[in-house]
Amino acid sequence: MGEAKKLYIKTYGCQMNVYDSERMAEALGGNGYVEVGSPEEADMILLNTCHIREKAAEKVYSELGRFRGLKADKPGLKIGVAGCVAQAEGAEIMARQPMVDLVVGPQSYHRLPEMEARAGTEKVIDTDFPEEDKFARLRERPKAKRGPTAFLTVQEGCDKFCAFCVVPYTRGAEVSRPAARILHEARDLVDRGVREITLLGQNVNAYHGAGPEGGDWTLARLIRALDRIDGLERIRFTTSHPNDMGDDLIAAHAECGKLMPYLHLPVQSGSDRILKRMNRRHTAESYMRVVERIRAARPDILLSGDFIVGFPEETEADFRATMELIEAVNYGSAFTFKYSPRPGTPAAERPQVDPAEADERLHRLQALILRQQQAAQDSMVGRTVGVLFEKPGRRPGQMVGKSDYLHSVFVDAQELDAGDLRRVRIVSSGPNSLQGVLA
Ligand code: 5AD
Ligand code: SF4
Repeated sequence: MGEAKKLYIKTYGCQMNVYDSERMAEALGGNGYVEVGSPEEADMILLNTCHIREKAAEKVYSELGRFRGLKADKPGLKIGVAGCVAQAEGAEIMARQPMVDLVVGPQSYHRLPEMEARAGTEKVIDTDFPEEDKFARLRERPKAKRGPTAFLTVQEGCDKFCAFCVVPYTRGAEVSRPAARILHEARDLVDRGVREITLLGQNVNAYHGAGPEGGDWTLARLIRALDRIDGLERIRFTTSHPNDMGDDLIAAHAECGKLMPYLHLPVQSGSDRILKRMNRRHTAESYMRVVERIRAARPDILLSGDFIVGFPEETEADFRATMELIEAVNYGSAFTFKYSPRPGTPAAERPQVDPAEADERLHRLQALILRQQQAAQDSMVGRTVGVLFEKPGRRPGQMVGKSDYLHSVFVDAQELDAGDLRRVRIVSSGPNSLQGVLA
């Protein structure tokens, strides 16, 4: 065997892309590639892209522009584009950047090894939506040791068609992986050192995968089965839609010791008029009722959300309704976005809000979220929480990990290792992290 070929993968966007990149790197391992940390040393560069907002998609083209010199110096260098920009723009990418050799959409990753073999001598492109579980056909993860946390995709795609969103077009229709495969993958991750698994799906709480003995499993049922895996200490899941928060999933938050008290539950807007135009199929009030049910089951849960400001036709009154909803919920954290018109989505064709107005709303929204985020973090001081340690901190002898509530926690203690889950008393709160001592 000759020297290993070098693969550089750059990942944009969501956690699902992070998971996909790992799986693609493993699959290309079968073609003789090992992953490297810089594009300069690579024999193949793969950009795993995001199409969710315009800025995200534009970044891909500017990054490709930077690789032009590398390709001139090393003509054998293969350049591939994967992910949601690949799906949305397909052959357009090769027209705009002729040095691209390979374009692969998210539903075709199992074909990547075969595509890679052809790339370089011909242009290869695959953006089909085949009827097969791509993960089942991707090479198994090699048995290498891993860090204490991992993502695991259980569901992909979306049938909800929110008027702003490209996901139903780039990731396709909602598909759930069979429960047995997920459990097998989870056990394998645990054998390799993983202590915390975050289940991923664009609509993760709509999960309805085939159960091992026939019939469909809900996400709650899957979580209960994961809860019984020895060595797995923590379970999280993201992203959920308010309409799919079933009673059994809410009950799991009260009953499953390993399910962490943190839930990402985007509402997007607090105005019923805008929610209707967004095709969200829920109201501000129905969302508040879901929040109440969750808090009744798990009073200490921290909620996070996604918000879009400047959605077409959003007025100042609509925006104020969003601010009121945020005040009423009191979030532990949130992601805030300015509306970005995406080609092919219904809202892109509608009258747009003045960009300066949208910017101004975004600033007000961010200020409110920041206050709530800081207050939630500060409220941890004096409490004793679980912390899963992940890596050394900035100072010698210091370790950093994530609390049950997903805050970063620094602890000075020589005896700690990555993967240790310990009780920690929180002593102070800084701008982005907590400091604690072993309890
Ligand atoms: N413009 C701005 N934000 C968007 N999101 C999705 N599509 C758009 C868009 N066109 C946000 C939503 C979603 C998060 C992942 O990204 O808030 O929940
Ligand atoms: Fe980006 Fe959404 Fe695709 Fe994830 S699913 S990569 S966030 S467009």
